[in-house]
Amino acid sequence: MSKVALVTGGTRGIGADISKQLKEAGRTVIASYASNDAAAHAFAAETDIEVIKFDAADYEACGEAVRKITAEFGPVSILVNNAGITRDATLSRMTRKMWDEVIDTNLGSCFNLCSLTFEGMKAEKFGRIVNIGSINGQAGQYGQVNYAAAKSGIHGFTKALAQEGARYNITVNAIAPGYVDTDMVRAVPPDVLQKIVAKIPVGRLGHAEDIARGVVFLTGDNADFITGSTLSINGGQHMY
Ligand SMILES: NC(=O)c1ccc[n+]([C@@H]2O[C@H](COP(=O)([O-])OP(=O)(O)OC[C@H]3O[C@@H](n4cnc5c(N)ncnc54)[C@H](OP(=O)(O)O)[C@@H]3O)[C@@H](O)[C@H]2O)c1
Repeated sequence: MSKVALVTGGTRGIGADISKQLKEAGRTVIASYASNDAAAHAFAAETDIEVIKFDAADYEACGEAVRKITAEFGPVSILVNNAGITRDATLSRMTRKMWDEVIDTNLGSCFNLCSLTFEGMKAEKFGRIVNIGSINGQAGQYGQVNYAAAKSGIHGFTKALAQEGARYNITVNAIAPGYVDTDMVRAVPPDVLQKIVAKIPVGRLGHAEDIARGVVFLTGDNADFITGSTLSINGGQHMY
């Protein structure tokens, strides 16, 4: 039977390509989203991939979703923690709410879904977890102390959990994308974006497919010797 893969934020942007490529790789994919019903329904119609709506920052909602997925499709064997948001501002303008939302959605969601699926993976003696970090968690970024802290936290979380999973054939890796052409990056002012692209050695923004290929690689049945790593996919912008 094909293994069940849950991709948070799997209906748009990078997550949509991750969902599609995992399906092509033979996985039973469930793509989650938070609020954009129109995008999620269009994605489901186009791809025939199951979608589920819940807030990945909310532990109870995650628990309910995992129970529903397990009952309907089987235990989650592959988890891609991709859901993420930005609330950018310099520290002097950043509110506590902007801090909490970004930490809870980007990093808290990793805790929620890993803790809710890890025991099932242990029982199956198989698990593949990929957490989507960011170049800005590696290098920092002006106006993003919340986002950089959350993404940097993801990279530490990954290395710690990898040590707990290793003996159960559960691998835990991170991908640190550079700037990828999605709605999140389209929100960056054009003049700022132009300066960012000028600093990317390959001379272009990343495509969502570039990141999805990394996820398929790290979640392969035979990828059991790769754990605790962070794969940078950034066009050479930051060599870490
Ligand atoms: N784009 C980049 O250049 C870039 C670079 C480095 C890292 N990343 C990271 O890559 C990941 C995907 O980014 P993206 O650019 O594809 O973002 P995006 O286009 O804005 O899509 C974000 C996805 O996450 C979902 N989401 C947001 N908050 C959620 C929540 N609380 N619970 C469940 N789902 C939630 C959204 O659902 P709705 O559709 O319902 O809103 C959407 O499906 C993020 O973690 C981001 O930080 C992106």
